[in-house]
Amino acid sequence: MTEDALRREFGDRFGREPRVSRAPGRVNLIGEHTDYNDGFVLPIAIGMSTRVAFAPVPGRELIVRSTAFPQADVRLAVGGDRARRGDWSDYVQGVLWSLEAASVRVPAAALWIDSDVPLGAGLSSSASLEVAVGGALLALAEHSMPGEELALACQRAESEFVGTRCGIMDPFASRLGRDGAALLLDCRSRQLTAVAMPPAVEVLIVHSGVRHDLAAGEYNRRRSECETAVGVLQALDPRVGSLRDVDPSLLERARGRLGRVGYRRARHVVGENTRVLAFVEDLRAVDLEAAGRRLFASHASLRDDYDVSCAELDALVEIARGQEAVLGARLTGGGFGGCTVNLVRAGHGPLVGDRIAAEYERRAGRRPERWITRAAPGATVD
Ligand code: GLA
Repeated sequence: MTEDALRREFGDRFGREPRVSRAPGRVNLIGEHTDYNDGFVLPIAIGMSTRVAFAPVPGRELIVRSTAFPQADVRLAVGGDRARRGDWSDYVQGVLWSLEAASVRVPAAALWIDSDVPLGAGLSSSASLEVAVGGALLALAEHSMPGEELALACQRAESEFVGTRCGIMDPFASRLGRDGAALLLDCRSRQLTAVAMPPAVEVLIVHSGVRHDLAAGEYNRRRSECETAVGVLQALDPRVGSLRDVDPSLLERARGRLGRVGYRRARHVVGENTRVLAFVEDLRAVDLEAAGRRLFASHASLRDDYDVSCAELDALVEIARGQEAVLGARLTGGGFGGCTVNLVRAGHGPLVGDRIAAEYERRAGRRPERWITRAAPGATVD
């Protein structure tokens, strides 16, 4: 739905002109499963976004509707205790819970939500929903909050209220995205550095068509496996506070104690952090071939050491590897389905996308959706 249509429908139903809060999805270029290990990530915000039309209404409730789930309005009391409902509205309720815990007094209001970020595709539909709702609730409460703080409130909503113990990457990218630049985020210090995207490349996203569901448990299991590995490494070196602090020599010394799974999980995170920083240097030096090779290496590590790929994602990466204009490709986001991100020579995205789609359809029996995206700005409210 267009934003104008959303405004119109809202106006027809509530008899008043709404304001609109928007927040983009994101695609992560490199740095996967590193955010909750205090490491580095490099996402860009994308052109697809969630929009929330909103206005205050009389009463003591938020009246929430999503065009993706149009069956009925959801009514959420403002203030007081909350319980999960087990559906999409938990993301809205989670943000309300998180902001109320930060002393934001949200008045009764109507919120109509529309999004073109595909669900379960690894493009952060949930963070874009949370950040867009957060922007709307702050505006309704006439409460100003720095972008970093809103991003952290959204992360708390998802990890403590909804129950996916995600890291900070997605809400940071959605809230603080920069036009034309990737965001190098140090997830320990939360320092954000904009890294200009070289004009010689474009970013092609290809959807495997396999929907992932992070709340399903594998994601949280990876987190626990990392925590267990940190415990083992700490016994060898008390300075280790997270996998961020581990270098390859300590990792090798700990190999026997870590066990096969712990060792491979830790090896992915240690290698991935190094790859993110090297990839940033490659972009700055416009060494695009080197940058591309790091994407392939990241995919191999996620597939072989972190065990978060699947046959469809592996096929998309292998097909991409056969395309001359593709510099590199990897799964993006949590994994277990969703999308690949492809770094492609500028101008070649549409043709390469068609070729990858045709070959994938031949192998997997379904035609993948795909998008060429530039690095987009973060959330806005007006
Ligand atoms: C999901 C989480 C992020 C991050 C990625 C994996 O997108 O929400 O915090 O952990 O998975 O890199």
